[in-house]
Amino acid sequence: MEIYIHLPFCKSKCQYCDFNSYAACDGATIYSYLAALCREIKFAGEQYGGARIDTVYIGGGTPSMLEAKHISSICRVLKENFDLSGVEEFSIEANPESVAEDKLLAYREAGIDRISIGVQSLDDRNLRSMGRLHDKDTALEKLALADKYFQNVSSDLIIGLPYDNSQLIKSEIDELSGYVTHMSVYQLTLEEGTPLKKRADEGRVWLPSDDEVADLMDVAIDTLSADGFERYEVSNFAKGGKISKHNMGYWTREEYLGLGAGAHSLVKTSDGRTPLPAEIRFSHPRDLNAYIGGVNCVDAFDKIPRAEMSVLSKTDILNEQIMLGLRTANGVEEELLFGRIPPELDEFFARFDGRIALNKRGMEVMNGILVRILEL
Ligand SMILES: C[S@@+](CC[C@H](N)C(=O)[O-])C[C@H]1O[C@@H](n2cnc3c(N)ncnc32)[C@H](O)[C@@H]1O
Ligand code: SF4
Repeated sequence: MEIYIHLPFCKSKCQYCDFNSYAACDGATIYSYLAALCREIKFAGEQYGGARIDTVYIGGGTPSMLEAKHISSICRVLKENFDLSGVEEFSIEANPESVAEDKLLAYREAGIDRISIGVQSLDDRNLRSMGRLHDKDTALEKLALADKYFQNVSSDLIIGLPYDNSQLIKSEIDELSGYVTHMSVYQLTLEEGTPLKKRADEGRVWLPSDDEVADLMDVAIDTLSADGFERYEVSNFAKGGKISKHNMGYWTREEYLGLGAGAHSLVKTSDGRTPLPAEIRFSHPRDLNAYIGGVNCVDAFDKIPRAEMSVLSKTDILNEQIMLGLRTANGVEEELLFGRIPPELDEFFARFDGRIALNKRGMEVMNGILVRILEL
């Protein structure tokens, strides 16, 4: 089983972001949230404490913006309530401007062994226009610091920002590859309700077209490959086999517990509310006060209010196996797709060792392919 901990606090909201995160929260709110989170960890431990925990991921929001002692406390409470002796990977997300030496030391002390830094771009005009709080020099300085304390450093990059061009993407990746063993490279999504979407709709920001972004993604993939990174998932690249075990667990449908506001879980046993073992997905309320109030007014994990919950049917499970598995280079067992691939789509797939995966061109048009092959 995997554990995800959500820390939904940021210094300010980035232009493109629709993640469950809140800017400018006061100390009292953060304190109440952390208290509720620790209470939830305790309840979760009472219900799932016997499970073997393979990976832990502290994400956000901006976990690095919290004081080191807060992260240490969360890790201590986790250890008190779960058996973390078999954990193979323990990650934390950080933003460059709030990475500091004392925090890195505290993370390492607490058992964290992987850090994922949200660089997004190494062009100061891109960073400024997206409302990021760091510049290129800070990003490189903090990557060097992280590299000093962690063997497993990842960075996130967004492709399709206003000042992107192929030369920039190539030089960003070449520079980053000196510091990291893993890169997540996402194409910019214009999320409904974000300031960036509004600016784009009103013609107040120039963004590269879909075709231009596809070309930039090609440059990114080729540069990463030349720099020794293997593409093991649509948006994820690793050097020396340092894939993200935690994220791989999502794509191979391992069980995971998501703790914190808006966090999602997948459990494959009875969750205490359903009488029979079943595969259940559920999530907590996104709103901070709804989450805090919900945790504080109950005395067990399975009583915490849920925002969503679904017991998966056999068809749901099969569709998920295909949809998630085809994101990865390892694909799915060939028999899962038996009789589903129309001959005209065959050119988008590669077959090996009884498995089938999307090839490079297939990954480019993945969504269109999934619509054709999933069972509805
Ligand atoms: C949980 S988020 C944020 C992590 C961290 N707070 C940060 O900003 O660096 C994880 C990653 O999703 C990506 N992301 C967020 N919003 C996006 C969007 N609208 N389009 C593409 N990628 C996005 C960014 O690369 C980000 O680092
Ligand atoms: S720092 Fe990360 S989580 Fe926070 S608003 Fe920006 S992209 Fe979203």
